[in-house]
Amino acid sequence: MRKCAGAFLVLMLFATVGLCTVASANSGYFHVNREFYPYYPSLVRWNKSHAPFTAPEVCKDCHPKQYEEWTGSLHALAFQDPLYQGELNKTYKFGGQQVARQCNGCHSPAGMVTGEIKGPGIADLSSLALAGVSCDICHSISGTTHLETPSHEPENGSFILSPGVDSENGISLIKRGPWKPGKDCGGGFHECTVSPLHLSADLCAGCHQVYHYSDHFPLETTYLEWKHGAYAQKGILCQDCHMVDLKTFIKSADDYRKPLRSEYRHYFNGANYLIYYLAEQAALKAGNVKKAAILKDKYQMAIKRLQLAADLSISPVYRDGKLEEIKVEVKNIRAGHNLPTSLTNVRQMWLELTALDGTGKVLFTSGTLDARGHLPKNTRIFDSEGRGDQFHFFLNRWVVTSFTKNETIPPKGYKDVYYGINVPAGVKQVTIKARLRYRQADPVVAEDVLSAVPASINLEQTYGITNTPAMPVVDMVVKQAVFGSTRP
Ligand code: HEC
Ligand code: HEC
Ligand code: HEC
Ligand code: HEC
Ligand code: HEC
Repeated sequence: MRKCAGAFLVLMLFATVGLCTVASANSGYFHVNREFYPYYPSLVRWNKSHAPFTAPEVCKDCHPKQYEEWTGSLHALAFQDPLYQGELNKTYKFGGQQVARQCNGCHSPAGMVTGEIKGPGIADLSSLALAGVSCDICHSISGTTHLETPSHEPENGSFILSPGVDSENGISLIKRGPWKPGKDCGGGFHECTVSPLHLSADLCAGCHQVYHYSDHFPLETTYLEWKHGAYAQKGILCQDCHMVDLKTFIKSADDYRKPLRSEYRHYFNGANYLIYYLAEQAALKAGNVKKAAILKDKYQMAIKRLQLAADLSISPVYRDGKLEEIKVEVKNIRAGHNLPTSLTNVRQMWLELTALDGTGKVLFTSGTLDARGHLPKNTRIFDSEGRGDQFHFFLNRWVVTSFTKNETIPPKGYKDVYYGINVPAGVKQVTIKARLRYRQADPVVAEDVLSAVPASINLEQTYGITNTPAMPVVDMVVKQAVFGSTRP
């Protein structure tokens, strides 16, 4: 089921990109030891030895199941993602490698620390660098570095990568996993070390907390939203919702039930159905039917996960016996963090409300997309609004240093939205239709980012994108109710 808002061309771009200089340089209070953090503003450290990082295709030989689950995940796509590449290109133009290595430190850590990634684009890179957040990133993480910062909170890639050590007979690769290794663990290819970090949300935290590269403003705060919420208190981790299938996810979210060991899967499935869709188109164009099928499953899983995340209830508000307002309660029932999370100034989750009289005549609307896919001014949208020093910006994370509002809904929390309605005399009953709708970004923002994709990515050849893509909209919840125009 693909519900599209319709294709259109957006001519007006946000021409404000790039007006700021790297000058916003240093934060007043976030002083760190630059020697301890050689890749600053990324807080990654690399325990260097002769032991190399290993590409996922090598792990595949002995771990085909994990490989197939990870294939096509947002982690596998984290570097090649065309929206990432568009933003990365703009970052390089703004601040060069100095700023961009912060991005690559999370989107392709091995490619960043080895120095392989020197600019935007995907040309001439090894399969390891292209693989983004690959097997050998997570399974080489041997510790964290955030205790050396003033905040002591994980952020901006605050982990240590140790793919192996130099040993008497050359090198030994060491892979870290959650379980006590058996006798033949590693099949002669790697040693195994048990790592409690892999059974903790701290493994994910270093990448799922994004701060402004110099002013240290928290741009994406998924980890802290989770940590301050109900699920963290009950011991339900990121892994328990994102590394399992939908059935198991529902049990983690509803009953706070910890998944069984046999239930974990390397899906890392979240909400970003758009990228799965684009990657599926690319796989089909490349003739890779098997990969396209995997991506289609992930696309459907992401839509389902979004639809399972929220609920709505509609109720009437009478004053002096007369229907004056409609109240809609929007509930975050299953997201382990705020809904939406991460790029909250870009993602769009909004309420569409229509009031009709008994003959089907529309009395009131809010949040209905116009023919060009734009939201009307009176829309109730659950987002944040980023602000730079001088202007309002949507996306560019080297600019946003504060939020003017944040309307996202905390875990197991809710927001009440009220709509005043004027019921004409003679109308006895009012039908209310409410939809909670979602898309990755406004089409203008998507167009702006895609227009910055570097030349080594041919959007038309690879993805079949010619002009602005229609931004597909998902209905998360659809509800309807009928109320009398006077108090019953
Ligand atoms: C984002 C981090 C991350 C990435 C990327 C990742 N893993 Fe894992 N892996 C984990 C975590 C967390 C666990 C523990 C949960 C579990 O039991 O699956 C795990 C468990 C495992 C295990 C133990 C057996 C099991 O499934 O329980 C193996 C083997 C494994 N991963 C291999 C791989 C391979 C191969 C890849 C790449 C194709 C990969 N991992 C990518 C985080 C990651
Ligand atoms: C601390 C780790 C981290 C850093 C640093 C980081 N990102 Fe990300 N980025 C993420 C995570 C995690 C997501 C996924 C969030 C989500 O899905 O909402 C993401 C998502 C994105 C997306 C959205 C992709 C999509 O398909 O919607 C873009 C674009 C992006 N990042 C660009 C950048 C750029 C450019 C920089 C550097 C200026 C950067 N990121 C720095 C972790 C990071
Ligand atoms: C030659 C085969 C072989 C290759 C190649 C290989 N592994 Fe393994 N690995 C094993 C075997 C055998 C085990 C034992 C457990 C099992 O069967 O899953 C294991 C176990 C693991 C575990 C679980 C450790 C634990 O106790 O929790 C992780 C994590 C892991 N491998 C990661 C990787 C990663 C990442 C790669 C690629 C960089 C990789 N492996 C490549 C054979 C291999
Ligand atoms: C090395 C950095 C890194 C680590 C460690 C990491 N992630 Fe991610 N993760 C990313 C980036 C970067 C993206 C976004 C890629 C993009 O949108 O292009 C992402 C995307 C995701 C998504 C998909 C989001 C969506 O929009 O659909 C989920 C779910 C996710 N990560 C969960 C986890 C979990 C669970 C862990 C810990 C077991 C983890 N991640 C560890 C960097 C990381
Ligand atoms: C109780 C289940 C649950 C837990 C625990 C949980 N999540 Fe999620 N997550 C969801 C659901 C449902 C969604 C889809 C709705 C949304 O976007 O918030 C989601 C979405 C996401 C996204 C995609 C956001 C986007 O814009 O596309 C990322 C990234 C993510 N989660 C990372 C994490 C990380 C990291 C943790 C741990 C710190 C975590 N999640 C804990 C259920 C959970």
